[in-house]
Amino acid sequence: MKNKDLFDEYAKDILENELFLETKKIYSHGRISIYEHSIAVAELAFSMIENNNGIDKRCVVRAALLHDFFLYEWHVPGIRYIMHGWKHPSIAAKKAKEIFGISRKEYACIKTHMWPWTPFSIPICREAWIISMADKVVALKETVFCRGKRAPLHGALRHAPPTA
Ligand SMILES: [Fe+2]
Ligand SMILES: [Fe+2]
Repeated sequence: MKNKDLFDEYAKDILENELFLETKKIYSHGRISIYEHSIAVAELAFSMIENNNGIDKRCVVRAALLHDFFLYEWHVPGIRYIMHGWKHPSIAAKKAKEIFGISRKEYACIKTHMWPWTPFSIPICREAWIISMADKVVALKETVFCRGKRAPLHGALRHAPPTA
């Protein structure tokens, strides 16, 4: 199977999921939605490993797509904004498990993607390191090159932030 087809096969159910589509309504960095960011991270991570048969490609694609699946608006002033960097990997991992029944390895990749911001959640497999690196590269690119006034995203979803 071609690498592009493999990516599509691993990603299909996530990209068609109604809740995942909600990520189009939440900003990530600059003018980029979480939806666009997550796909960019998955594509970059996959491009790094697509010809390496020793890597769990399915894990890389799915965990990368779901690494920011926290589903709430985080650009709110105050302590929630500050805490977001530490809290959202665990929240995303739990939601991804609940909705997509992800594997333990995928769960670990999502939970550790913000290291070293989360110093006690260290990536422990190559798949997790790849996703963490791809996320940082994409986030930096978006922050530097995709700045500007934010327009409401597809109806400007305002999920209530989690209470926990
Ligand atoms: Fe993240
Ligand atoms: Fe991210």
